[in-house]
Amino acid sequence: MSFPTVRMRRLRRTAAMRDILNQTNLQPSNLIYPLFVDESIQKPVPIQSMPGYSRLPINRVADEGKQAMAQGVKSVLLFGIPAKKDEAGTSAFAKNGVIQKTIDELKKTHGEELVVIGDVCLCEYMSHGHCGIVQDGQVLNDQTLDVLGKVAVSQAEAGADVVAPSAMMDGQVGAIREALDDAGFDQVPIMAYSAKYASGFYGPFREAAESTPKFGNRRSYQMSQGSQEEALREMELDINEGADMIMVKPALAYLDIINLAKANFNVPIVAYNVSGEYAMVKAAAQNGWIDEKTVIREILTGIKRAGADLIITYHAKDTKSWLNQT
Ligand code: PBG
Repeated sequence: MSFPTVRMRRLRRTAAMRDILNQTNLQPSNLIYPLFVDESIQKPVPIQSMPGYSRLPINRVADEGKQAMAQGVKSVLLFGIPAKKDEAGTSAFAKNGVIQKTIDELKKTHGEELVVIGDVCLCEYMSHGHCGIVQDGQVLNDQTLDVLGKVAVSQAEAGADVVAPSAMMDGQVGAIREALDDAGFDQVPIMAYSAKYASGFYGPFREAAESTPKFGNRRSYQMSQGSQEEALREMELDINEGADMIMVKPALAYLDIINLAKANFNVPIVAYNVSGEYAMVKAAAQNGWIDEKTVIREILTGIKRAGADLIITYHAKDTKSWLNQT
């Protein structure tokens, strides 16, 4: 017998052969498109550190949603930048707050065809930039839960299809589930940012959302980079508190956590391909150092292969035509 009998290259000979054997098939409907909505602007304002991406005024969001839908994307995740910030985060749960108005607009225009997810956090709405109520330099956990519950209910009242708590307060999923149920929103699911790490990759987002903490950092509530078992505990707790989907954030430096989530839990797993990950790809591509489409495809495929069912990504809107090209 001639050597070698097993030739792995037999199954790689043609594009069609490679395609029929492809194990990781990405669909635009697996992608969630984040949008930053700024109450104070009249036209889109480009975000310097996120080339090709802008903050939007409320009246441009429905059209942006339409463009994403034309690409096969079926979901958006909304972040608000309010005109006024304070120390209680009141504009996060105001009836006519930036997110509430945006949700209403999107639902009026796109109805059930677009899944509208509201990010439930306070950092963009607080003058100090932290994700909760601050007293004597400390972020208070339990006092923050009441406010997060109000934010979630106000988003549900505006028509949100899903709420996504991202403050990393203990008990936030349970508190929000109870608040939603009490208000009659037992059909609104919770997509929990369960394993959210304190990360350098959030820089461009904080510039865009003006949500950089004015003092200190988020390490007393977001997870430490080296933790692994703790992520499993966070996810288990969130599921027990009623999370319908769990999230790992960021994605690229935490593919092992995504993989563990998939291996351990039978709820949909979401991964957030965050602003700094987007910025690195764009910057290198603009310099001609990498091929943008090839690298984006490779990154999104890697995140899905690791175990993510859904990927939140700023690349969502322009991938349809080449997402699965080999
Ligand atoms: C905080 C929040 C963060 C992001 C969205 N909401 C992280 C942070 O500022 O600590 C980051 C998203 C991104 O970088 O794309 N609630």
